[in-house]
Amino acid sequence: MKLTIIGTGYVGLVTGACFAEVGHRVICVDNDAAKVRQLRAGVIPIYEPGLEELVKRNVALGRLSFTENTPEGVQQSDVVFIAVPTPPQPDGSVDLSFIERVARDIAGAMTEYKIVVDKSTVPVKTGEKVAETIKRYCKAKVDCDVVSNPEFLREGFAVGDLMNPDRVVVGVRSQRPVAALKQIYAPFRAPIVVTDIASAELIKHASNSFLALKISYINAISVLCEASGANVQEVAAGMGMDERIGRRFLDAGIGFGGSCFPKDLSAFIKIAEQIGYDFRLLKEVQRINADQMDRFVKKIIETLWVLRDKKIAVLGLAFKQNTDDVRMSPAIALCQRLQKEGAALRVHDPKAMEKARPLLPDATCVEDMNAVAEGCDALVIATEWDEFKNLDLERVRKSLSHPILFDGRNLFDRAQMEERGWIYKSIGR
Ligand code: UDX
Repeated sequence: MKLTIIGTGYVGLVTGACFAEVGHRVICVDNDAAKVRQLRAGVIPIYEPGLEELVKRNVALGRLSFTENTPEGVQQSDVVFIAVPTPPQPDGSVDLSFIERVARDIAGAMTEYKIVVDKSTVPVKTGEKVAETIKRYCKAKVDCDVVSNPEFLREGFAVGDLMNPDRVVVGVRSQRPVAALKQIYAPFRAPIVVTDIASAELIKHASNSFLALKISYINAISVLCEASGANVQEVAAGMGMDERIGRRFLDAGIGFGGSCFPKDLSAFIKIAEQIGYDFRLLKEVQRINADQMDRFVKKIIETLWVLRDKKIAVLGLAFKQNTDDVRMSPAIALCQRLQKEGAALRVHDPKAMEKARPLLPDATCVEDMNAVAEGCDALVIATEWDEFKNLDLERVRKSLSHPILFDGRNLFDRAQMEERGWIYKSIGR
């Protein structure tokens, strides 16, 4: 099918590349001309495993192209996807001005029936507003169906998630656009949930908030584990074997971050408030997440006492592994807290160092993870990169002035670390 995707951020670009990969002809539109030039030249602005190859291959095959011209994108396709940012506002609500702008642009360019699909994460009822806006601004007065089709990909695993989705959610007002959506997604062989637009919009916020809740739940359990001498990983393993619970998203740590969970939680709380419901459960999820970071900083201070003039090595800056994204990264927040206490930092991340530099201008970036701890008083692990499990622990231990490791992601075995002479502090164990 002929598809257009407006917005080439994480969701738009990965969606475009994956749609092209399964044989659709895709035009990606972005109003940033420099970005479009880069993408045409095969330069991918984000690190996402497998994406660069996918983009290059499909551009070469003529199935994927980039333009900054929205009318061209709209007129050449049957289905137009909206994948623009919905950034948070200071009060927690979502800024929908990019969505509104794109709705007007699409309306202005439409000369025949189109299916307009919203992929961005939006508050419930946004689909209705998009439909109203397109109707109002469409000069040609042609028909249009608005569909809500939220995206569930995770950064760092985006291509895999998109190629093998657990489910595809399609929210519609009538049956008219359903066949086209089924055709677009047929190659992905996933169950397709067809529902109304409001339910589809809610599925996205409800899912992300539930996953954040699961993380806060295990983080709260980690507090009980520390107080009682239990091991949170054993507890999570035992809980996770119950199929109704599942083991995933039960890794205790220094809290969740990233561009989705914190923003989506605030937005969902705000949406609930606007509808007249005080979502206290989710407010508690936020509070536990903030506490988890406070407790970790406290643990570091309790052990090292005064941080002023201390040198601390930090492994991990991205908000999670397999990405260079540092937006709302707990690792960056932790570094800033340590700096505020007066510590000097040596930091390393396999992919996120460049993006982290402007946020941590005073930290020393170290290219080799095994050299990060040289001359430091302690080492901190802040992101769950698999690479860190292969750390040359002997070398790192010798390079530290004291063998102290604060493992905010429980990457190592506590008993083994202590046997090897480490003062080892982790989460919930
Ligand atoms: C999330 C959702 O998973 C995805 O479905 C949605 O489309 C976008 O938001 P993402 O933000 O890319 O994806 O990352 P995710 O893998 O969900 O991790 C989010 C945060 O939770 C990270 O900071 C991660 O470190 C943390 N986390 C995750 C934990 O602390 N413990 C866990 O068990 C899992």
